[in-house]
Amino acid sequence: MAVKKIAQGINSVGAVDWDRKLFDELIPLPEGTSYNSYFIEGNEKTALIDTVDPVKTYELFKNLDSLGVKKIDYVIANHAEQDHSGSLPAVLKKFPDAKIVTNEKCKGFLKDFMPELNDGDFMTVADKQEISLGNRTLQFFLTPWVHWPETMVTLLKEDKILFTCDYFGSHVAVSDIFDTAHTYTSAKRYYAEIMSPFRNVIKKNMEIVRSINPVMICPSHGVVHTDPSKVMAWYDEWIKDDVKNYALVLYISMHHSMKAAAEHLADSLANKGVRTKLYNLSNADIGEIAMDLVDAATVIVCAPTVLAGVHPVAANIVYLFNALRTKTKFLSLITGWNWMEKAQEALAAMVPNFKGELIAPLKIQGYPKKADFDAIDAMAQAVVEKHKTINLI
Ligand SMILES: [Fe+2]
Ligand SMILES: [Fe+2]
Repeated sequence: MAVKKIAQGINSVGAVDWDRKLFDELIPLPEGTSYNSYFIEGNEKTALIDTVDPVKTYELFKNLDSLGVKKIDYVIANHAEQDHSGSLPAVLKKFPDAKIVTNEKCKGFLKDFMPELNDGDFMTVADKQEISLGNRTLQFFLTPWVHWPETMVTLLKEDKILFTCDYFGSHVAVSDIFDTAHTYTSAKRYYAEIMSPFRNVIKKNMEIVRSINPVMICPSHGVVHTDPSKVMAWYDEWIKDDVKNYALVLYISMHHSMKAAAEHLADSLANKGVRTKLYNLSNADIGEIAMDLVDAATVIVCAPTVLAGVHPVAANIVYLFNALRTKTKFLSLITGWNWMEKAQEALAAMVPNFKGELIAPLKIQGYPKKADFDAIDAMAQAVVEKHKTINLI
């Protein structure tokens, strides 16, 4: 990413990672990502907000060099995760007078991740504490659990620009940090994958951001938000308890039996007025499923018995479903078997975080017959009735 002027004396100096295909060796990055870092000049002191993933340290330094930066006084660490903090040791080596400014909890995490850092490298700040850059002031607000316990945001007070790190971020690689063409989808995908398990805490942090009323939000992934009201309205929509008249049918099928059941169910739901999406888990993008889980009232998993348990591909998505603590109101299962049925028991035991209602599951022996298809139609009708009970239909 080339240096980009955000405002007078504020430049984006981070890096675009066009090539990265996975985050956490788990989350697909169909649009790549970026690690945004911001250099702020006051008339007495300078500050760098967040750093970059260590694989991109050279780009951060190239950008700082191109701005002629000779001295950094403060390096703000809003979050300890290494995609933002991993370059800290290199930054301190290049700018030995710099202090890492962060909260006490984040300091502990950073020292855990990077044992070469020591207490003398840090200046810790409390909630709402300020530091002066001369004619500019940085103020820190603790916003725990977006998405780690130490997360905070930094306000440049006079400019009313808020630096939020992962909060309001999006995994998207763009050459222009102001390129908002695809912001909604990439921000929703990011929220769904990273933030959604903490939505009840994020509700409180939304109030903090609302009270700050920033004119610009600069996250450390993706694009900046020049009209923060838009992304805040999206977050308000995503974090609320409401779901939509929307069902996800997630299936894995070895010899087409579960596929036939899942396709019949999807058609039956659609014919009965429920918007439905069918995912073949053998090639599904878990980020897309996570996005749909922000909206779906109902999820039905269709999976066969394998090795005296559930098919591991289905187990993987059900594990994620449970971990994401989704808003899903209704869940059901269709499990397949021939000489041993163990999938249903295994799946049902995997969702302790699910607080909704289980719609009577089905077991299908072999390829579905007329009675099985009738039972699937009855399951679809049960979904309709459940959606009516919460006024979705
Ligand atoms: Fe993070
Ligand atoms: Fe991040």
